[in-house]
Amino acid sequence: MKNKKIVILSGSVREGRKSHYVAELISEKLKNSTNHDIILLDLKEYPLPIMETRLDNEEQYPEILKRLSSYLINADGIIIVSPEYKNGIPGALKNVLDYLKPQIFRHKPIGNITVSSGGFGGINCLSQLRLVGLAMGGLPIPEKLCVSNINELFNNSGAILNTSINEKTTQFLDAFLWYVKRMSVQNHPPHKM
Ligand SMILES: Cc1cc2nc3c(=O)[nH]c(=O)nc-3n(C[C@H](O)[C@H](O)[C@H](O)COP(=O)(O)O)c2cc1C
Repeated sequence: MKNKKIVILSGSVREGRKSHYVAELISEKLKNSTNHDIILLDLKEYPLPIMETRLDNEEQYPEILKRLSSYLINADGIIIVSPEYKNGIPGALKNVLDYLKPQIFRHKPIGNITVSSGGFGGINCLSQLRLVGLAMGGLPIPEKLCVSNINELFNNSGAILNTSINEKTTQFLDAFLWYVKRMSVQNHPPHKM
């Protein structure tokens, strides 16, 4: 497969966050097992205020939004790693997604990973992410990675406590890469942004 650009959007900005360890693990696995360009976007590095005005013109974008947007536009595939908060998408992540243009994910496979400290792996958040991904023109893949009981998988410094996470991530990434290979084309059809 020719080199593709894969963006991983890590959606937790919480002090002491654990889902970022999953994003880092995914990033490392992709770097070690493929020749693709892997870009890990940490939302903590893109602090945007609560969206009060819809910005239609990119020239109005703050610099960090321009940068974030450009990584996503150029991606052949996107992985979103999100913790589940209150059965849903964390406000910080949704806020950033709300800033972005409605069709920014157009024709791109979206792999969703959710993380929870409870036993259900963020399945409710996954449903919301899929809907939001569709609203942004993306194609959420059917395969999912719902990481439950995160505190049993990583300690507070990010060390892996239980290697069961390795097999699950490998299966998910194999599926995601299948879609990236088949769906990414040289010239995407024109679309309204
Ligand atoms: C505001 C808030 C709401 C949360 N709601 C849920 C929830 O609905 N279900 C769940 O399993 N875990 C919930 N959690 C726990 C997270 O799953 C836990 O913090 C986990 O480590 C993933 O999030 P993190 O990346 O912020 O660490 C919540 C955590 C916070 C901070």
